[in-house]
Amino acid sequence: MDLLTRDQQYIMNTYRRLPIVVKKAKGSYLIDESNQAYLDFFAGIAVNSLGHSHHVIQKAMKKQMRQFLHLSNYFSTESVVELAKKLTHLSGLDQVFFTNSGTEATEAAMKLARKATRQLNPEKLEFIALKDSFHGRTLGALSLTGQPKYQESFRPLIPLVRHIERNNLDQLKQAVNDKTSAVFLEVIQGESGVQVLSEDFLQTIMDLQAQYHFLIVADEVQSGLYRTGIPFSYQRTPLKPDMVTVAKSLGGGLPIGALIATSEVASAFTYGDHGSTFGGNPFVAALGNALLGELSSTTFQTHLKTQCQALLQGLKEIARLYPHVITQIRGEGMMLGLEVGTYAPLIQKAAFNKKLLLNVTNQTVIRLLPPLTINQKELSEFFTKFKQSIDEVCLQ
Ligand SMILES: Cc1ncc(COP(=O)(O)O)c(C=O)c1O
Repeated sequence: MDLLTRDQQYIMNTYRRLPIVVKKAKGSYLIDESNQAYLDFFAGIAVNSLGHSHHVIQKAMKKQMRQFLHLSNYFSTESVVELAKKLTHLSGLDQVFFTNSGTEATEAAMKLARKATRQLNPEKLEFIALKDSFHGRTLGALSLTGQPKYQESFRPLIPLVRHIERNNLDQLKQAVNDKTSAVFLEVIQGESGVQVLSEDFLQTIMDLQAQYHFLIVADEVQSGLYRTGIPFSYQRTPLKPDMVTVAKSLGGGLPIGALIATSEVASAFTYGDHGSTFGGNPFVAALGNALLGELSSTTFQTHLKTQCQALLQGLKEIARLYPHVITQIRGEGMMLGLEVGTYAPLIQKAAFNKKLLLNVTNQTVIRLLPPLTINQKELSEFFTKFKQSIDEVCLQ
């Protein structure tokens, strides 16, 4: 039996697999069993920021492997403390709780918010989240994820969560009050099609916070750690979050997540309030340090800035050629969404046949999440194959 058939037999049916079997992955490419190279614009859904098999990650793996892999949270370890320090420096916040995934980082934020704000006012228990948001799929996080298609089969979810439309100031003003514990948001909503929150909306959240003293949680699981060209996407907006969640790329390809908070909020957690067997594993943390060291280096920053501009510029040129296909380009840096309506699955299929892997989200949006290491030659290959795919679809 081939791999995809065995996959269907033994693995629960929650994922749609692509029809290739990857034998090897290097840089921006996946190599299949017949040695065909696919240009990978999924990058592990924003995980493989340094591409595949990056030497900096491999070196860190070898080094940490020789010391130890796992000790448990009874022990303090250098790599974990160093990673926490790096995250606080990047975000301007003070303390970290490590998890294994993005959804667990959301769970940690929900628990911390609940405890921190109920100390101020026992009725301060309500959460506000946005429609079309994505914060994870565990029952707590799913209660915030504002998408009925993910929620319906799993009700009842946790109570006291209100969902409002993104960028709707009236709904925002009506929803917050003295009972609001926290507002959860993605400054750029990735999963629902790379939708960007307006500066007005974010400024109004800040203004309302001054009045109602709720907490602001920025979910940077997808948009964080230089994905949009800067450490965190909220840093180009007026938003000053009390908590930030990260995951995805943080482990250089292995699972880890984190909740970063101000010391004032973080102090609500005391011994035994929260925990995780693997959360803050020293092996993964060592890879996280290597990743952040590389991403924040001056050389990498120069590369990233140049490539982000080149990607956007090239896409704008293509959009000018096909205004009836690409009706909008949204997002920042290397997290871009192209609104292409019903063409989305057709372009995706045509691109796949040309060995370009594109991700479609929310049915009508091509979401581009290339490795941040992508170079000029690979970008040119992308533009050529992408243009050819659109041509082919339009000629049909
Ligand atoms: C913004 C955001 N938050 C949370 C999550 C959940 O992360 P995980 O899949 O690691 O649980 C995701 C995953 O796609 C995400 O994009």
